[in-house]
Amino acid sequence: MASSVEVNQRIARLSAHLYPSNLQMEDSSSAVRRADCRAKGGAPGFKVAILGAAGGIGQPLAMLMKMNPLVSVLHLYDVVNAPGVTADISHMDTGAVVRGFLGQAQLDNALTGIDLVIIPAGVPRKPGMTRDDLFKINAGIVRTLCEGIARCCPRAIVNLISNPVNSTVPIAAEVFKKAGTYDPKRLLGVTMLDVVRANTFVAEVLGLDPREVDVPVVGGHSGVTILPLLSQVKPPCSFTREETEYLTDRIQNGGTEVVEAKAGAGSATLSMAYAAVKFADACLRGLRGDAGVVECSFVASQVTELPFFATKVRLGRNGAEEVYQLGPLNEYERVGLEKAKKELAGSIEKGVSFIRK
Ligand code: 2OP
Repeated sequence: MASSVEVNQRIARLSAHLYPSNLQMEDSSSAVRRADCRAKGGAPGFKVAILGAAGGIGQPLAMLMKMNPLVSVLHLYDVVNAPGVTADISHMDTGAVVRGFLGQAQLDNALTGIDLVIIPAGVPRKPGMTRDDLFKINAGIVRTLCEGIARCCPRAIVNLISNPVNSTVPIAAEVFKKAGTYDPKRLLGVTMLDVVRANTFVAEVLGLDPREVDVPVVGGHSGVTILPLLSQVKPPCSFTREETEYLTDRIQNGGTEVVEAKAGAGSATLSMAYAAVKFADACLRGLRGDAGVVECSFVASQVTELPFFATKVRLGRNGAEEVYQLGPLNEYERVGLEKAKKELAGSIEKGVSFIRK
Protein backbone atom coordinates (compact mmCIF):
# COMPACT_ATOMS: atom_id res chain seq x y z
CA MET A 1 0.00 0.00 0.00
CA ALA A 2 1.20 3.49 -0.81
CA SER A 3 2.29 5.62 2.12
CA SER A 4 0.60 8.98 2.66
CA VAL A 5 3.83 10.68 1.50
CA GLU A 6 3.71 8.71 -1.79
CA VAL A 7 0.02 9.52 -2.25
CA ASN A 8 0.72 13.20 -1.72
CA GLN A 9 3.59 13.10 -4.21
CA ARG A 10 1.31 11.46 -6.77
CA ILE A 11 -1.40 14.10 -6.21
CA ALA A 12 1.23 16.79 -6.57
CA ARG A 13 2.36 15.34 -9.91
CA LEU A 14 -1.24 15.22 -11.17
CA SER A 15 -1.94 18.73 -9.92
CA ALA A 16 1.19 20.11 -11.51
CA HIS A 17 -0.52 20.42 -14.86
CA LEU A 18 -3.54 22.18 -13.44
CA TYR A 19 -2.33 24.75 -10.97
CA PRO A 20 0.20 27.37 -12.00
CA SER A 21 2.44 27.89 -9.04
CA ASN A 22 2.39 31.67 -9.13
CA LEU A 23 -1.32 31.93 -8.48
CA GLN A 24 -0.73 30.88 -4.87
CA MET A 25 -4.27 29.62 -4.36
CA GLU A 26 -3.62 27.40 -1.36
CA ASP A 27 -6.13 25.46 0.65
CA SER A 28 -4.71 25.41 4.17
CA SER A 29 -6.73 22.30 5.07
CA SER A 30 -5.07 20.26 2.31
CA ALA A 31 -1.77 18.42 2.68
CA VAL A 32 -0.95 19.34 -0.94
CA ARG A 33 0.00 22.94 -1.54
CA ARG A 34 -0.33 24.33 -5.04
CA ALA A 35 2.77 26.41 -4.49
CA ASP A 36 4.76 23.17 -4.23
CA CYS A 37 3.37 21.72 -7.46
CA ARG A 38 5.38 21.91 -10.64
CA ALA A 39 3.70 23.15 -13.79
CA LYS A 40 4.97 20.85 -16.51
CA GLY A 41 4.39 21.45 -20.22
CA GLY A 42 3.35 18.56 -22.46
CA ALA A 43 5.76 19.34 -25.29
CA PRO A 44 8.61 21.64 -26.25
CA GLY A 45 7.44 24.86 -27.84
CA PHE A 46 7.50 28.63 -27.68
CA LYS A 47 6.90 30.96 -24.77
CA VAL A 48 4.10 33.42 -25.53
CA ALA A 49 2.85 36.39 -23.50
CA ILE A 50 -0.50 38.09 -23.98
CA LEU A 51 -0.62 41.67 -22.65
CA GLY A 52 -4.24 42.62 -22.02
CA ALA A 53 -5.26 38.99 -21.56
CA ALA A 54 -8.37 39.70 -19.46
CA GLY A 55 -10.00 42.00 -22.03
CA GLY A 56 -12.59 41.32 -24.71
CA ILE A 57 -10.01 40.18 -27.27
CA GLY A 58 -7.52 38.91 -24.68
CA GLN A 59 -9.76 36.21 -23.19
CA PRO A 60 -10.68 34.32 -26.37
CA LEU A 61 -7.13 34.92 -27.62
CA ALA A 62 -5.74 33.32 -24.45
CA MET A 63 -8.09 30.37 -24.85
CA LEU A 64 -7.10 29.79 -28.47
CA MET A 65 -3.37 30.15 -27.74
CA LYS A 66 -3.74 27.59 -24.91
CA MET A 67 -5.00 25.22 -27.64
CA ASN A 68 -2.03 25.89 -29.93
CA PRO A 69 0.42 22.95 -29.90
CA LEU A 70 3.36 25.25 -30.72
CA VAL A 71 2.99 27.01 -27.34
CA SER A 72 4.72 25.51 -24.29
CA VAL A 73 4.28 28.42 -21.87
CA LEU A 74 1.55 31.06 -21.92
CA HIS A 75 1.87 34.18 -19.78
CA LEU A 76 -1.36 36.13 -19.23
CA TYR A 77 -0.82 39.73 -18.13
CA ASP A 78 -3.43 42.36 -17.35
CA VAL A 79 -4.05 45.18 -14.91
CA VAL A 80 -7.33 43.59 -13.73
CA ASN A 81 -8.76 40.07 -13.53
CA ALA A 82 -5.61 38.26 -14.70
CA PRO A 83 -5.81 35.67 -11.87
CA GLY A 84 -9.42 34.79 -12.75
CA VAL A 85 -8.73 34.36 -16.45
CA THR A 86 -5.54 32.42 -15.68
CA ALA A 87 -7.27 30.02 -13.28
CA ASP A 88 -10.00 29.43 -15.85
CA ILE A 89 -7.69 28.88 -18.86
CA SER A 90 -5.24 26.79 -16.82
CA HIS A 91 -7.86 24.04 -16.37
CA MET A 92 -7.79 23.25 -20.10
CA ASP A 93 -5.99 19.93 -20.64
CA THR A 94 -3.64 21.10 -23.38
CA GLY A 95 0.16 21.18 -23.30
CA ALA A 96 0.86 24.85 -22.59
CA VAL A 97 1.59 25.84 -19.00
CA VAL A 98 -0.34 29.00 -18.05
CA ARG A 99 0.87 31.65 -15.63
CA GLY A 100 -0.95 34.83 -14.62
CA PHE A 101 0.53 38.27 -13.93
CA LEU A 102 -1.47 41.12 -12.39
CA GLY A 103 -0.58 44.79 -12.54
CA GLN A 104 2.42 46.76 -13.70
CA ALA A 105 4.59 45.48 -10.86
CA GLN A 106 4.43 42.02 -12.51
CA LEU A 107 4.95 43.17 -16.10
CA ASP A 108 8.67 42.35 -16.15
CA ASN A 109 8.09 38.84 -14.82
CA ALA A 110 5.39 38.33 -17.45
CA LEU A 111 7.84 39.26 -20.22
CA THR A 112 11.10 37.65 -19.15
CA GLY A 113 12.15 34.80 -21.47
CA ILE A 114 9.27 35.30 -23.91
CA ASP A 115 9.57 34.47 -27.66
CA LEU A 116 6.34 36.07 -28.90
CA VAL A 117 4.40 38.94 -27.28
CA ILE A 118 0.82 39.57 -28.42
CA ILE A 119 -0.67 42.94 -27.39
CA PRO A 120 -4.46 43.40 -27.51
CA ALA A 121 -4.39 45.78 -24.47
CA GLY A 122 -6.35 49.01 -24.54
CA VAL A 123 -9.89 50.34 -24.84
CA PRO A 124 -12.24 49.39 -27.71
CA ARG A 125 -14.38 51.64 -29.92
CA LYS A 126 -17.98 52.65 -29.21
CA PRO A 127 -20.48 53.57 -31.97
CA GLY A 128 -19.50 56.81 -33.72
CA MET A 129 -15.81 56.47 -32.83
CA THR A 130 -12.96 55.89 -35.26
CA ARG A 131 -9.93 53.83 -34.27
CA ASP A 132 -8.02 57.12 -34.06
CA ASP A 133 -10.34 58.29 -31.24
CA LEU A 134 -8.67 55.61 -29.09
CA PHE A 135 -5.23 57.17 -29.52
CA LYS A 136 -5.17 59.19 -26.29
CA ILE A 137 -5.63 56.18 -24.02
CA ASN A 138 -4.07 53.36 -26.03
CA ALA A 139 -0.91 55.23 -27.04
CA GLY A 140 0.21 55.48 -23.40
CA ILE A 141 -0.68 51.84 -22.70
CA VAL A 142 1.34 50.64 -25.70
CA ARG A 143 4.30 52.81 -24.69
CA THR A 144 4.39 51.33 -21.17
CA LEU A 145 4.11 47.75 -22.45
CA CYS A 146 6.79 48.24 -25.11
CA GLU A 147 9.16 49.73 -22.52
CA GLY A 148 8.72 46.44 -20.64
CA ILE A 149 9.48 44.43 -23.79
CA ALA A 150 12.64 46.48 -24.40
CA ARG A 151 13.77 45.75 -20.80
CA CYS A 152 12.87 42.08 -20.56
CA CYS A 153 12.57 40.38 -23.96
CA PRO A 154 14.09 42.71 -26.58
CA ARG A 155 14.50 39.82 -29.07
CA ALA A 156 10.85 38.75 -28.90
CA ILE A 157 8.57 38.98 -31.92
CA VAL A 158 5.81 41.52 -31.16
CA ASN A 159 2.29 41.22 -32.59
CA LEU A 160 0.53 44.56 -31.99
CA ILE A 161 -3.28 44.57 -32.07
CA SER A 162 -4.05 47.67 -29.93
CA ASN A 163 -5.74 50.38 -31.97
CA PRO A 164 -5.09 52.60 -33.80
CA VAL A 165 -2.58 50.09 -35.24
CA ASN A 166 -1.54 52.67 -37.87
CA SER A 167 -0.15 54.79 -34.98
CA THR A 168 0.66 52.22 -32.28
CA VAL A 169 3.18 50.37 -34.47
CA PRO A 170 5.17 53.61 -35.03
CA ILE A 171 4.89 54.28 -31.27
CA ALA A 172 6.34 50.85 -30.49
CA ALA A 173 9.14 51.39 -33.02
CA GLU A 174 10.07 54.71 -31.39
CA VAL A 175 10.07 53.17 -27.89
CA PHE A 176 12.38 50.38 -29.10
CA LYS A 177 14.64 52.87 -30.91
CA LYS A 178 14.95 54.93 -27.73
CA ALA A 179 15.89 51.80 -25.80
CA GLY A 180 18.37 50.75 -28.52
CA THR A 181 16.56 47.45 -29.12
CA TYR A 182 14.63 48.17 -32.35
CA ASP A 183 14.63 45.41 -34.93
CA PRO A 184 12.08 46.30 -37.65
CA LYS A 185 11.64 42.65 -38.59
CA ARG A 186 10.35 41.79 -35.11
CA LEU A 187 7.57 44.39 -34.85
CA LEU A 188 4.40 43.37 -36.67
CA GLY A 189 1.06 45.20 -36.69
CA VAL A 190 -1.80 42.71 -36.87
CA THR A 191 -4.00 43.37 -39.91
CA MET A 192 -5.08 39.75 -40.26
CA LEU A 193 -8.72 40.53 -39.42
CA ASP A 194 -8.96 42.59 -42.61
CA VAL A 195 -7.75 39.55 -44.58
CA VAL A 196 -10.12 37.24 -42.67
CA ARG A 197 -13.06 39.56 -43.42
CA ALA A 198 -12.00 39.96 -47.04
CA ASN A 199 -11.78 36.19 -47.52
CA THR A 200 -15.23 35.76 -45.97
CA PHE A 201 -17.00 38.53 -47.90
CA VAL A 202 -15.37 37.63 -51.24
CA ALA A 203 -16.28 33.97 -50.70
CA GLU A 204 -19.90 35.02 -50.08
CA VAL A 205 -20.02 36.95 -53.37
CA LEU A 206 -18.36 34.14 -55.34
CA GLY A 207 -20.29 31.33 -53.63
CA LEU A 208 -17.05 29.67 -52.46
CA ASP A 209 -15.80 28.19 -49.19
CA PRO A 210 -13.85 31.06 -47.49
CA ARG A 211 -11.02 28.62 -46.74
CA GLU A 212 -10.36 28.40 -50.48
CA VAL A 213 -10.08 32.18 -50.89
CA ASP A 214 -6.99 34.35 -50.42
CA VAL A 215 -7.36 38.14 -50.63
CA PRO A 216 -4.27 40.30 -50.08
CA VAL A 217 -5.17 43.38 -48.01
CA VAL A 218 -2.53 46.12 -47.94
CA GLY A 219 -2.06 49.64 -46.50
CA GLY A 220 -3.11 49.91 -42.86
CA HIS A 221 -5.84 48.95 -40.41
CA SER A 222 -8.45 51.72 -40.48
CA GLY A 223 -11.08 52.90 -42.97
CA VAL A 224 -9.65 53.87 -46.35
CA THR A 225 -6.17 52.70 -45.33
CA ILE A 226 -7.52 49.12 -45.55
CA LEU A 227 -6.99 48.35 -49.23
CA PRO A 228 -8.15 44.94 -50.47
CA LEU A 229 -6.46 43.97 -53.74
CA LEU A 230 -9.41 42.29 -55.41
CA SER A 231 -7.48 42.04 -58.69
CA GLN A 232 -5.09 39.61 -56.96
CA VAL A 233 -7.65 37.29 -55.36
CA LYS A 234 -6.90 33.58 -55.43
CA PRO A 235 -8.43 31.59 -57.04
CA PRO A 236 -8.26 34.03 -59.98
CA CYS A 237 -11.64 35.70 -60.59
CA SER A 238 -13.13 38.97 -61.73
CA PHE A 239 -15.65 41.36 -60.18
CA THR A 240 -18.09 43.87 -61.63
CA ARG A 241 -17.65 47.53 -60.64
CA GLU A 242 -20.63 47.16 -58.25
CA GLU A 243 -19.13 44.06 -56.64
CA THR A 244 -15.75 45.80 -56.28
CA GLU A 245 -17.34 48.83 -54.60
CA TYR A 246 -19.55 46.71 -52.33
CA LEU A 247 -16.64 44.48 -51.26
CA THR A 248 -14.13 47.30 -50.76
CA ASP A 249 -16.61 49.26 -48.65
CA ARG A 250 -17.61 46.22 -46.56
CA ILE A 251 -13.99 45.17 -45.93
CA GLN A 252 -12.95 48.74 -45.01
CA ASN A 253 -15.89 49.11 -42.63
CA GLY A 254 -16.07 45.58 -41.23
CA GLY A 255 -14.91 46.77 -37.81
CA THR A 256 -17.55 49.51 -37.74
CA GLU A 257 -20.22 46.96 -38.74
CA VAL A 258 -19.40 45.02 -35.55
CA VAL A 259 -19.12 48.16 -33.37
CA GLU A 260 -22.61 49.24 -34.47
CA ALA A 261 -24.11 45.75 -34.06
CA LYS A 262 -22.68 45.59 -30.52
CA ALA A 263 -24.33 48.97 -29.84
CA GLY A 264 -21.96 50.27 -27.18
CA ALA A 265 -20.71 46.92 -25.89
CA GLY A 266 -17.38 47.23 -27.72
CA SER A 267 -15.82 46.18 -31.00
CA ALA A 268 -14.85 42.89 -32.63
CA THR A 269 -13.41 40.52 -30.03
CA LEU A 270 -14.08 36.94 -31.19
CA SER A 271 -13.19 37.35 -34.86
CA MET A 272 -10.26 39.56 -33.79
CA ALA A 273 -8.98 36.84 -31.45
CA TYR A 274 -9.42 34.25 -34.22
CA ALA A 275 -7.46 36.42 -36.67
CA ALA A 276 -4.76 37.22 -34.08
CA VAL A 277 -4.25 33.52 -33.37
CA LYS A 278 -4.10 32.73 -37.08
CA PHE A 279 -1.36 35.36 -37.38
CA ALA A 280 0.46 34.34 -34.18
CA ASP A 281 0.47 30.73 -35.35
CA ALA A 282 2.06 31.84 -38.63
CA CYS A 283 4.72 33.77 -36.65
CA LEU A 284 5.44 30.67 -34.52
CA ARG A 285 5.72 28.47 -37.61
CA GLY A 286 8.17 31.04 -39.00
CA LEU A 287 10.13 30.99 -35.72
CA ARG A 288 10.25 27.19 -35.93
CA GLY A 289 11.87 27.53 -39.36
CA ASP A 290 8.96 26.47 -41.59
CA ALA A 291 9.40 27.59 -45.19
CA GLY A 292 6.89 29.62 -47.20
CA VAL A 293 4.95 31.21 -44.32
CA VAL A 294 3.45 34.36 -45.88
CA GLU A 295 0.79 36.65 -44.35
CA CYS A 296 -0.18 40.34 -44.56
CA SER A 297 1.10 42.60 -41.79
CA PHE A 298 1.70 46.31 -41.06
CA VAL A 299 5.49 46.56 -40.83
CA ALA A 300 8.47 48.85 -41.46
CA SER A 301 8.52 48.98 -45.23
CA GLN A 302 10.14 50.44 -48.32
CA VAL A 303 7.31 49.37 -50.60
CA THR A 304 5.95 52.95 -50.68
CA GLU A 305 7.43 56.27 -49.54
CA LEU A 306 5.85 55.70 -46.08
CA PRO A 307 7.98 54.21 -43.29
CA PHE A 308 5.28 51.65 -42.41
CA PHE A 309 2.87 49.83 -44.69
CA ALA A 310 0.95 46.55 -44.72
CA THR A 311 1.74 44.05 -47.47
CA LYS A 312 2.42 40.35 -47.62
CA VAL A 313 5.51 39.43 -45.62
CA ARG A 314 7.46 36.18 -45.32
CA LEU A 315 7.70 35.08 -41.69
CA GLY A 316 10.85 33.34 -40.52
CA ARG A 317 13.13 32.80 -37.54
CA ASN A 318 13.66 36.56 -37.21
CA GLY A 319 10.11 37.76 -37.85
CA ALA A 320 9.21 39.53 -41.11
CA GLU A 321 12.24 38.41 -43.10
CA GLU A 322 10.98 39.59 -46.47
CA VAL A 323 8.50 42.35 -47.27
CA TYR A 324 6.79 41.78 -50.61
CA GLN A 325 5.96 44.44 -53.20
CA LEU A 326 2.36 45.36 -53.99
CA GLY A 327 2.22 43.58 -57.35
CA PRO A 328 0.20 44.92 -60.30
CA LEU A 329 -2.75 47.15 -59.30
CA ASN A 330 -5.75 48.10 -61.41
CA GLU A 331 -6.95 51.71 -61.75
CA TYR A 332 -9.49 51.38 -58.88
CA GLU A 333 -6.75 50.09 -56.57
CA ARG A 334 -4.27 52.80 -57.65
CA VAL A 335 -6.81 55.49 -56.65
CA GLY A 336 -7.44 53.64 -53.37
CA LEU A 337 -3.69 53.45 -52.73
CA GLU A 338 -3.29 57.23 -52.98
CA LYS A 339 -6.17 57.78 -50.51
CA ALA A 340 -4.75 55.17 -48.15
CA LYS A 341 -1.25 56.68 -48.19
CA LYS A 342 -2.57 60.19 -47.48
CA GLU A 343 -4.40 59.06 -44.34
CA LEU A 344 -1.66 56.67 -43.25
CA ALA A 345 1.02 59.38 -43.40
CA GLY A 346 -0.84 61.43 -40.75
CA SER A 347 -1.45 58.43 -38.48
CA ILE A 348 2.19 57.35 -38.64
CA GLU A 349 3.40 60.88 -37.90
CA LYS A 350 1.01 61.12 -34.93
CA GLY A 351 2.50 57.96 -33.43
CA VAL A 352 6.11 59.02 -34.00
CA SER A 353 5.63 62.48 -32.49
CA PHE A 354 3.84 60.99 -29.43
CA ILE A 355 7.21 59.54 -28.38
CA ARG A 356 9.56 62.14 -29.86
CA LYS A 357 7.73 65.23 -28.54
C1 2OP B 1 -11.47 45.56 -35.90
O1 2OP B 1 -11.07 45.73 -37.05
C2 2OP B 1 -10.94 45.51 -33.45
O2 2OP B 1 -9.72 46.85 -35.00
C3 2OP B 1 -10.44 45.71 -34.81
O3 2OP B 1 -12.64 45.25 -35.66
